[in-house]
Amino acid sequence: MLLQEEKEDEALARPKIGQAAKPRGRVGRAFGWLWRRVNGPINRCAVSALEMQHGESVLEIGCGPGDAIERLVRDGQARRIVAIDHAPDMVDAARTLNKVAIREGVVDVRECSVSEMPFREGSFDVVLAVNSVQFWPHLRLDLKSVLRILKPGGRFLIAMRMTMEPRARRRCEMLLRALPNAGFVEVTMEEASARAMQVALIFGKRPIWAGGPYDAFVA
Ligand SMILES: C[S@@+](CC[C@H](N)C(=O)[O-])C[C@H]1O[C@@H](n2cnc3c(N)ncnc32)[C@H](O)[C@@H]1O
Repeated sequence: MLLQEEKEDEALARPKIGQAAKPRGRVGRAFGWLWRRVNGPINRCAVSALEMQHGESVLEIGCGPGDAIERLVRDGQARRIVAIDHAPDMVDAARTLNKVAIREGVVDVRECSVSEMPFREGSFDVVLAVNSVQFWPHLRLDLKSVLRILKPGGRFLIAMRMTMEPRARRRCEMLLRALPNAGFVEVTMEEASARAMQVALIFGKRPIWAGGPYDAFVA
C-alpha cells in the first residue's frame, strides 16, 4: 500500500470521541432519543440485509437505544440476540425498549466495550454493528475480536450512514482493506437507500477452514 494511503487509513481508524461515542447524562439520553427516531431506516435496512436464518444467534455491537434489537425480535428468526454498548444510559434505554423479549429470555443487553468482549470463540452466527465502528477504540484489534467470536462461516455486517462527505466514502474504503487484514473473507460492500438516507453495508465472513490470518491471531 502507498505510504500516503496507509497514513490516511491510520487517521480514519482513529476513534471519534464525544457524546456520540459514549453518550452520558441528559445530553446522552437526548442523543439516544434522537437515534431511535432518526436511525430507524438504517436499522431496518441492516436487519433485512442480514437475512437471518431460523435459530441463529446474533450479537449487536454498539446497540444504542436498542432499535435494531427490537427489529431482530420482530423478524422472529434469531434464537438468541445479545447486544452490547459501553454507555450505561444506552444499555438502560435498550433494556427498557426490549423488556418483554428480555423477560422471555430471547434478548440479553450488556454494558461492555467491543474491546473487552467476554464471549467464547465461535459464539455467534452473526455480528452486526450499525453506526458504531467509527467509535471503536482499537479498530484492528477489535475486528479480530469480532472474527474470533464468530462461528466458522459466520457473517459480520457493518452498516453506516453515507453522507456526502468524501471522508465517509474513504472510511468505507479503509474498512474494505481492514476486514481482510483482520482475517475476514468474502468482504463486499453494497449501497442501499433507506428513506432519504444512503446506507453503506459492508459484509465479511469468518473463514470456515483452519489456517490463515485468524490462526496466527489466536496463537
Ligand atoms: C451513533 S450510536 C448508534 C446506535 C445504534 N446502533 C443506532 O444506529 O441507532 C453509536 C453507539 O455505539 C456505542 N459505542 C461506541 N463505542 C463503543 C465501544 N467501544 N463499545 C461498545 N459500544 C460502543 C455508543 O455508546 C453508542 O451507543
